[in-house]
Amino acid sequence: MPPMSSFLSVLLICLLSVLLLRLSTLLDPGAAVPRIKRSAPLPLRFRHDGAFKILQVADMHFGNGAATRCRDVAPEVGGALCSDLNTTRFLRRLIEAERPDLIAFTGDNIFGGSATDAAESLLRAISPAMEYNVPWAAILGNHDQESTMTREELMTFLSLMDYSVSQVNPPGFLVHGFGNYHVGIHGTFGSEFVNTSLLNLYFLDSGDREVVDGIKTYGWIKESQLAWLSATSRELQQNLHSPALAFFHIPIPEVRELWYTDFKGQYQEGVACSLVNSGALGTLVSMGDVKGVFLGHDHLNDFCGDLNGIQFCYGGGFGYHAYGRSGWPRRARVIHTQLKKGQRSWAGVESIQTWKLLDDEKLSKIDEQVLWRHDDDDSDHSLYL
Ligand SMILES: *[C@@H]1O[C@H](CO)[C@@H](O)[C@H](O)[C@H]1NC(C)=O
Ligand SMILES: *[C@@H]1O[C@H](CO)[C@@H](O)[C@H](O)[C@H]1NC(C)=O
Repeated sequence: MPPMSSFLSVLLICLLSVLLLRLSTLLDPGAAVPRIKRSAPLPLRFRHDGAFKILQVADMHFGNGAATRCRDVAPEVGGALCSDLNTTRFLRRLIEAERPDLIAFTGDNIFGGSATDAAESLLRAISPAMEYNVPWAAILGNHDQESTMTREELMTFLSLMDYSVSQVNPPGFLVHGFGNYHVGIHGTFGSEFVNTSLLNLYFLDSGDREVVDGIKTYGWIKESQLAWLSATSRELQQNLHSPALAFFHIPIPEVRELWYTDFKGQYQEGVACSLVNSGALGTLVSMGDVKGVFLGHDHLNDFCGDLNGIQFCYGGGFGYHAYGRSGWPRRARVIHTQLKKGQRSWAGVESIQTWKLLDDEKLSKIDEQVLWRHDDDDSDHSLYL
């Protein structure tokens, strides 16, 4: 990087930190003294019961809070009664009920057009994760940057917030977009894998909108991102073959084909992907470690389906200011990974399961399924002693 642009990035980070501190003081007037970011305990680890649970929050579409009205809800629970605060309440209920080890915010976290101040809107949207000290990772959708911050500023800001494990981009790589990073989940303390990532999470920026040959379309994952992804996966798998999960906002074109398969969940609207197919599926398949991909973008789709041995799952619409369907509750996805009990301590990942929770009275759990299970025949034996 030329010295001028690195100077500018440092300046940008400083300005954003000041902004963050100022905003947190505004939101919490009691906190008069500036403070630095509260960091999540790193590296993230499996719990002592051998589980690691991820809550996927797709498409919050947060605006200005109490003033931002809900869309597509029944009249008797809508109107002035319903706002972004219902989105916040849903997130709090989920955290209390599920106690996730990580929350993955998969884009369109804020709805730029309804957010007067992007930073304030993001702080409010993510606040339940910070209140409950839950580590979280975020990526961008196509609406986040439609307010007062660019995609680079948004990702920088997200990376500086309390308990965030988000990163702008991987150090040492020139990668397209903002929000391409890897998070490793290590073995429990006291186990043989205390220094080893047993589950790898890849976060990718699928962009916003593009014009291709004069035609408007959605963004897609670029060649430089796929190159970084395969290089990272190759390096991680040099010693151990830990399974991996990937997260990005805009579905790849092949997700359309799932209509003709035995998917689980609801397929209620067309897959709004890019016209461009950059070969992401081929890359993901050839990497060999990715078992599940988690998407947002299409709020009325919440299914999982198999493409070449990888499960592609939508999170389902979460936010009340996002379009939805009246009478079809807002929802979130839980991804539950469990280690295998080894002879001496916990071994590698044994299973990856998922289900969804609805924002109804009982927080109903639906569509529970196993996405992947360790197979003794074809796995890395060093992980399963
Ligand atoms: C939104 O929250 C208010 C206040 O808690 C509640 O009365 C209303 O039913 C909620 N609306 C929806 C659609 O959940
Ligand atoms: C893990 O790393 C720490 C610090 O480098 C080291 O002291 C310890 O022996 C390692 N433990 C295992 C099981 O590899």
